[in-house]
Amino acid sequence: MNTNTSDGHKLRHIAFIMDGNGRWAKARMMPREFGHRQGSKNFEKMVNHCFERGIEHVTVYAFSTENIKRPEKEVKAIMQLLEKYVKRATDEIDKNNTRYCFIGDHSIYSEEMKKKVRYLEDATKDKRYTLNVAINYGGRAELVHAFNDLMSQGKTDITEDDISKALYTRNSPDPDLIVRTGGDLRISNFLLWQAAYAEFYFTDTYWPDFSEKELDEIIDSFGSRNRRFGGV
Ligand code: FPP
Repeated sequence: MNTNTSDGHKLRHIAFIMDGNGRWAKARMMPREFGHRQGSKNFEKMVNHCFERGIEHVTVYAFSTENIKRPEKEVKAIMQLLEKYVKRATDEIDKNNTRYCFIGDHSIYSEEMKKKVRYLEDATKDKRYTLNVAINYGGRAELVHAFNDLMSQGKTDITEDDISKALYTRNSPDPDLIVRTGGDLRISNFLLWQAAYAEFYFTDTYWPDFSEKELDEIIDSFGSRNRRFGGV
């Protein structure tokens, strides 16, 4: 299946705001953590599907800097899912052609987790496909981090390219398409700089129900969009 737009732009990077896990669980009279568990399974399925379709960069918003305010039980459940995921990904390094980048502020990880994440990032840095997992991530915080980084390098005449290269997402091109599930029509502090020319797609489907079929339809609809990047 084609992943180019009608004007020949290739879909190289797709990003997901995986929203609706809590409501999905509530509709089943289950705790929110159950929704995150199901959401985590679906996240792996969707990432594989994107890579199988030849999309080389995928970014997922798993946990925002604001999500830390949620009840401790829920935060803990998401962090446990992440730990399990990091372990599985590390065990399967040789099976997958995936580069892992955990974007966001790592200060919420335990020391052990920091080491595990760093190992996985280093060990996969020459792989073909890139997966950015945004954890304790906020677009504004990312920009502040980037500016401070550039200042500490003594940079003065800062260019757009300097900023792009100082962002956590420096290993990926800007997203071509951002998909948000769960019915809300907002960006929620996600990839603020990188989203400048992204196409957006919003669906009411809750993330755990988001299917390969719906994703294929979205990818096909991207194919019929005409991206002018400010031109005519
Ligand atoms: C938004 O739904 C989702 C999150 C805050 C967490 C997303 C996490 C996952 C999909 C699991 C991530 C797992 C790994 C391995 C990285 P919500 O809870 O805000 O849903 P609601 O809007 O229905 O309440």
